[in-house]
Amino acid sequence: MSDVVLEVDHLTKTFRIHRERANSLKQRIAAKGRNRFDEFTALQDVTFDVSEGEVFGVIGHNGSGKSTLLKCMAGILRPNAGSVRVHRRMSALLELGAGFHPELSGRENVFLNAAILGMGRRDIATRFDEIVAFSGLEKFIDQPVKTYSSGMYVRLAFSVAINVDPRLLIIDEVLAVGDVTFQKRCLEKFVEFRNDGRTIVLVTHDLASVRNMCDRAVWLKQGQVTGEGDPKQLVEAYTESMLGSMQHTETGSTRRGSGELMINQVEMYVGDDPSPVMRFQTGDDVRFRLFYTATKAVPRPIFSLIIDALGGATVSAPCSRDVGLVPDVVSGDGWIDIVMPNISLLPGAYDVHTAVQDFNKQHEYDHLQLAARFDVTTGKPYESSGLVTLRPEWNFTEG
Ligand SMILES: Nc1ncnc2c1ncn2[C@@H]1O[C@H](COP(=O)(O)OP(=O)(O)O)[C@@H](O)[C@H]1O
Ligand SMILES: [Mg+2]
Repeated sequence: MSDVVLEVDHLTKTFRIHRERANSLKQRIAAKGRNRFDEFTALQDVTFDVSEGEVFGVIGHNGSGKSTLLKCMAGILRPNAGSVRVHRRMSALLELGAGFHPELSGRENVFLNAAILGMGRRDIATRFDEIVAFSGLEKFIDQPVKTYSSGMYVRLAFSVAINVDPRLLIIDEVLAVGDVTFQKRCLEKFVEFRNDGRTIVLVTHDLASVRNMCDRAVWLKQGQVTGEGDPKQLVEAYTESMLGSMQHTETGSTRRGSGELMINQVEMYVGDDPSPVMRFQTGDDVRFRLFYTATKAVPRPIFSLIIDALGGATVSAPCSRDVGLVPDVVSGDGWIDIVMPNISLLPGAYDVHTAVQDFNKQHEYDHLQLAARFDVTTGKPYESSGLVTLRPEWNFTEG
């Protein structure tokens, strides 16, 4: 049996979600003595080992707990129960820009970051040129990193992370923001790593690279391990589970989910006008109304409205839990209004999707892909391109 370098043992992690803040004194008095937060479980009883020399993949839907798992591995989050044991020198590349100081230059951040990862100053100085060369940021290395693009950030962070000589490298998604050339260089580095007998734990949406590159993988679902082992079989099962749960409706939309609580229809209104519209202008006060039906009492559901540009980019995805709006229970029929005053969307066509999940976002009651489509026409302000206006103010000074 090979050496175990990482042991995840009955790991459980919960988060507290603070309820909507009581604004008035009256509300605060009314709330006194009641719980001001809810708790939910992002990881539940997760157990697996990673052996020396493995490339180990973690797959699962958004919100399934992948990042939380990696943060527990890196010691950024403390588990509520269970443990993570790391037996090798580890280097982690998690949230973009974490560990970087925006005001400091790239050079200063390399030293800072490498020192945090446990490298001595002299070692860093010896390795410095190599780190910068790998990142390809020679020209920018003395500029403050706050001037860097996200792609530049990740190039520098990755270069540091692999050059501090880790025996175990854990990487969450972030590489996706780098350009293709850099991604290729990272993949080459992974192969080099693996040939050296080093270990990699990798979270990625790129299922092809999980299939091709990983020796083993786990599939997280609702914070729990649903499968572990051969990445090819896991990826296949995962893909099937995504497709299998899709149903087609008459209107060209697709629906998935368990169905106890569903969104039947989405309507949009402008201002106080009671008739629904399919078209409005930049700057209108727009109300989205989500009509729901619950066939049984559903405790603490979470509603999301997802607005995508036609190309597929999500422009905005407000979620009721983010604003602390958590009804204790929902049953029967009703609707939810989401008001967007002075809407920032610029002219174009947009798709609307809806999602209803349980409080932990681990169970999907309903996901209606393409619940509606609407057009935005020229209003105020006018901008000739882009998806949203950030309402810029221009000043022109003649020296
Ligand atoms: N700091 C936090 N506070 C509250 N909830 C969190 C926090 N971090 C993650 N979550 C929630 O935990 C769940 C798992 O999130 P995450 O680990 O980021 O999933 P993934 O990386 O698989 O998309 C999600 O429901 C997410 O909203
Ligand atoms: Mg994540």
